[in-house]
Amino acid sequence: MIETEERYPADYDATDRQGAKESKENSRPKLASHIENVDEYDTVYLGFPNWYYGMPMAVYSFLEEYDFSGKTIIPFITSGGSGFSDAISEIQSIQSDATVLPEGYKVTHSKVSDVTFEDVEEWINGLNK
Ligand SMILES: Cc1cc2nc3c(=O)[nH]c(=O)nc-3n(C[C@H](O)[C@H](O)[C@H](O)COP(=O)(O)O)c2cc1C
Repeated sequence: MIETEERYPADYDATDRQGAKESKENSRPKLASHIENVDEYDTVYLGFPNWYYGMPMAVYSFLEEYDFSGKTIIPFITSGGSGFSDAISEIQSIQSDATVLPEGYKVTHSKVSDVTFEDVEEWINGLNK
């Protein structure tokens, strides 16, 4: 799980303001979680919410911390409706030697609670990885 040192507020609008500030400043929030044994993985499932038409800045912190060359990155996203926006191309430009699946799983926030285990299983089984 990607965890930041500074936690985001429980209040949505306050988090929105913080996310807007981080995005504007192109900041790299410090992460509280780190992967010790990244070499043992061939596939990285990378899930995040769409923040300001792309990835939250903490996901940039995460992607810039590791070298996923030769690995497959499978993105999935929740959003208010924007879907992946620029996220897939941003991931590919940071991890240029990784294979980034172009169509990860996406769900809008109002539908998150409708997603079943079977939906996710179907998605994973249908992936061309
Ligand atoms: C800082 C911030 C920026 C956001 N920017 C977008 C956006 O550009 N496009 C979009 O579709 N949703 C945007 N959202 C909505 C989130 O994607 C949505 O809240 C998230 O997917 C999780 O859903 P939930 O709030 O129902 O848990 C934003 C939310 C926050 C907090």
